[in-house]
Amino acid sequence: MTDKVLYSLTGNKTQLIVEVGEYAEILHWGQPFNGDLSIARHALHRPVPYGRLDIDVPVTLTPELGRGSFGSPALEGHRAGQDWAPVMKVVKVDHGALGLKIYCEDTLAGLEIISELYLDQHDVIKTRQTLRNIGQGAYQVARLANTLPLPGRVSELMTYHGRWVYEFQTSRQSLTQGGYQQENRRGRTSHEHYPAFVAGTANFDELSGDVFGFHLAWSGNHRMRIDVKADGRRVMQGEAIYLPGEIELSEGASLSTPWLYATHSGQGLNEMSHHFHEHVRASILPSEFANKPRPIHLNTWEGIYFDHDPDYIMQMATQSAQMGVERFIIDDGWFKGRDGDKAALGDWFLDEKKYPNGLEPIVNHVNDLGMEFGLWFEPEMINKDSDLYRTHPDWLLEVKGYDQPTGRNQYVIDLSQPQAFEFLYQRLDHFLSTYNIGYIKWDMNREVVQPGHEGRASGHAQVERYYELVDRVRLNHPNVEIESCSAGGGRIDYEVLKRTHRFWASDNNDALERQTIQRGMSYFFPPEVMGSHIGASHCHSTRRRHSIEFRGLTALFGHMGIELDPVRESEEEKQGFEHYVELHKSIRTLLHSGKSWRIPTDDTAHQIQAVVAQDQSQAVVLIAQLAMPTNALSGHLRIPGLDPDALYQVTVIDQPTNYHDIVNYQPPWTTDGCQLTGRWCQDIGLTMPVLDAETALLVKLEQID
Ligand code: GLA
Repeated sequence: MTDKVLYSLTGNKTQLIVEVGEYAEILHWGQPFNGDLSIARHALHRPVPYGRLDIDVPVTLTPELGRGSFGSPALEGHRAGQDWAPVMKVVKVDHGALGLKIYCEDTLAGLEIISELYLDQHDVIKTRQTLRNIGQGAYQVARLANTLPLPGRVSELMTYHGRWVYEFQTSRQSLTQGGYQQENRRGRTSHEHYPAFVAGTANFDELSGDVFGFHLAWSGNHRMRIDVKADGRRVMQGEAIYLPGEIELSEGASLSTPWLYATHSGQGLNEMSHHFHEHVRASILPSEFANKPRPIHLNTWEGIYFDHDPDYIMQMATQSAQMGVERFIIDDGWFKGRDGDKAALGDWFLDEKKYPNGLEPIVNHVNDLGMEFGLWFEPEMINKDSDLYRTHPDWLLEVKGYDQPTGRNQYVIDLSQPQAFEFLYQRLDHFLSTYNIGYIKWDMNREVVQPGHEGRASGHAQVERYYELVDRVRLNHPNVEIESCSAGGGRIDYEVLKRTHRFWASDNNDALERQTIQRGMSYFFPPEVMGSHIGASHCHSTRRRHSIEFRGLTALFGHMGIELDPVRESEEEKQGFEHYVELHKSIRTLLHSGKSWRIPTDDTAHQIQAVVAQDQSQAVVLIAQLAMPTNALSGHLRIPGLDPDALYQVTVIDQPTNYHDIVNYQPPWTTDGCQLTGRWCQDIGLTMPVLDAETALLVKLEQID
């Protein structure tokens, strides 16, 4: 193909103009133009300055050194030292309703790359590259990346960092010369390097600025980077990291990158999140349960840990049902020999000492109380102190001859060993076929060191086999919902969400910390997939104490649950759980289908979020006071996203018990309610109440006919 053709992909508020000739290049990604495309040639073709190559060097969908691209290439590989500098040429383009599939070949190097680029009506791009070895002999791949260009005005980044019990922390940095790169080599999505970042114009914020959000859908090692090229152009790449020698393509074999998801918003971070949330709802989340209200959980972990007594667990279930809980989950500790975290992983047989009458009486009891029953598994893991390891020491994911460090006293099972894979499937299948289990919490509690299969690196294959295992379980047990947990939020990404229904966002149930964790997670995920539990008043991971109001309101804005032993709680606490369960149920549909807004505040000591119904008929707003107010008065609450011309009844529906005792008086609207137009709420706002640190207040807005 020599003549250049312009293609346009349009979303709702986004247009991609792609020029395809010998190579494919994105000329524009952003605000829609929708006119005569040929203008793009005149308007967007670049000059060729002196002092560099005599040709214009494009940032193609697969940048190549052989074409004069001196930045990070899309493909690095070789065939016994040859075919390492390919120059791919477009041979065919499929332009379908949703996007482009561009076939490129280098017949000299014996390689084919198919670039897929789609844009949906929620303005989310998804792209991936598939490399095929069409030459003779095996081809070794070191890298294969997705590449997207960004406009020169992008000069700031929002990136993620974190750790166990401290997930989804964000930080801002400027993007000048050079660039930014994050690498994750922990073998799972990780708490430390969530595979995403946001790039935008200077000072972009929640409501303004041009922002571009990126998420790599992959639950293993990854690299994400944004380069400022020496000539000023910005280029983003997202890819899986392949360990040395890991990817060898035999003749005819192919390799696909993970999907890279990206979106542009011309109105800051909230709009970016709206794009991602709607895309997740429409195209990522498994659709089977889309219309089922998300049941409120009681998870036993922080209530009883490994101390399982069936009669007591049944009492816990009874009390849970009385509080309005809809799904009761037995966490870790139920299988043979699992009395602590040092032994038994792999032995997926019921512990008959703890459960002499089997699991059935409990499952029946839970079901009779009208609740679903759920069970915890950690299929990919093994303790050396287990029957499984004693029988199959060769099933470890390791490089033989080395003594790799343990994580939580455990090792990883090599899922590329067919017998190990089959064993795990059979054990899961046994429980799911024998008992009426509606939900499994699928955990993964350690990082992966030296992922070896038969001596060779196998980190990538391990992740693919994990997906395969989950897919097989889902295929044969389509009525079972799955939560992705990895010591809290260590495996949260779009690829795992295609086959699961909920994430355990963090092992940290401290409401104050959860405010930050859930906010960080909210940029890419809607509230309904965010597992969020009311923990005990004395938080197990931070030793802080919080009121039931603050804990309840914080857990409210996710997929809510309770994580404690209800039998031991006071009557007052139990009434509190009941109240927040009830409150959650009353606004659950709104929370799980509406548009989420992170609301800018006049004072950084508080954090405000809202969910507005898609039809703008109602909204809820949560004001969380994170620290002491900076000033005596905290400014105004301005609520975006309402219908400007509609009139709303504004009512406080939940507040701290001492709300009126801490001031002479609070703003009248918080006591008596008031009626305001959406425009007033957005532009003028309401005076902020006075709140103590680590308390919260919930406001409801309902349109008046
Ligand atoms: C992980 C999970 C917890 C709990 C424990 C059980 O830490 O994140 O929620 O399930 O494992 O061992």
